[in-house]
Amino acid sequence: MNPLDEPTRLGRYTLRNRLVMAPMTRSRADDASGVPSPLAAQYYAQRAEAGLIITEGTFPSPMGKGYVRTPGIHSSAQIEGWKRVTEAVHAKGGLIFLQLMHCGRISHPSLLPAHASPVAPSAIAANGKVFTAARSSRHIGAPHAMPSMQALTGSNCTPLPATWRNSFCLPGPISERTATAARS
Ligand SMILES: Cc1cc2nc3c(=O)[nH]c(=O)nc-3n(C[C@H](O)[C@H](O)[C@H](O)COP(=O)(O)O)c2cc1C
Repeated sequence: MNPLDEPTRLGRYTLRNRLVMAPMTRSRADDASGVPSPLAAQYYAQRAEAGLIITEGTFPSPMGKGYVRTPGIHSSAQIEGWKRVTEAVHAKGGLIFLQLMHCGRISHPSLLPAHASPVAPSAIAANGKVFTAARSSRHIGAPHAMPSMQALTGSNCTPLPATWRNSFCLPGPISERTATAARS
C-alpha cells in the first residue's frame, strides 16, 4: 500500500489518508456578507477524499478581512454557510478544519466596515498592495496603495474576544474552537 493512503492520527482525529489539502483562498464568498457560497460546499465536498481539508483563510471578526470575496465566521449567516460546507464534506466521510485568518494590516478601508482603517499590533503600514473589488473589476491587477494604519489598543482590542465568543460560542483554546466550529 502506498504510505500516502495509510490512515494516520492527528491529535484526537483519525485521517483516512495522509493527504492534507492546504488552505487556499478561493474568493467565492458573497462580498457584502462574507457568507460562503453554495459553490464552496460543492468545491470542498469534491475534495473530501483527502485525509484532511484545511479551508481557505476565514476572518474571525469584521476587521480581519483583507481580500475581496473571502468568507468570515463571525456572523450567524456565515456560520450557517460554513455548516452547509461541513455537512457536505461530512456526508462524504471527509474531515475539515477551518483556517482562521485575521489579515491585520494587509487590508484596505474598502474591505472593512464603515471604511475603517485596518488594525494591526503596531501602526506601521505594510509595504505592499491589496486588491479591492472596485479596482480589480475596472483594471485587473491595479491595487490601491496601502492606507495609513491604526494601532490595536486596549479600547479597540476589547470587542475582539466578544466577537470570537459569538463566533464559536465555545470555551477552550482557539485550535479546539476552530476544530469544533469546523465540525459542527
Ligand atoms: C491561490 C492560493 C491561495 C492561498 N490561500 C491561502 C490561505 O488562505 N491561507 C494560507 O495559509 N495559505 C494560502 N495559500 C498558500 C498555500 O497554502 C501554499 O501555497 C501551500 O501550502 C503550498 O506551500 P508552498 O506554496 O510553500 O509550496 C494560498 C496559495 C494559493 C496558490
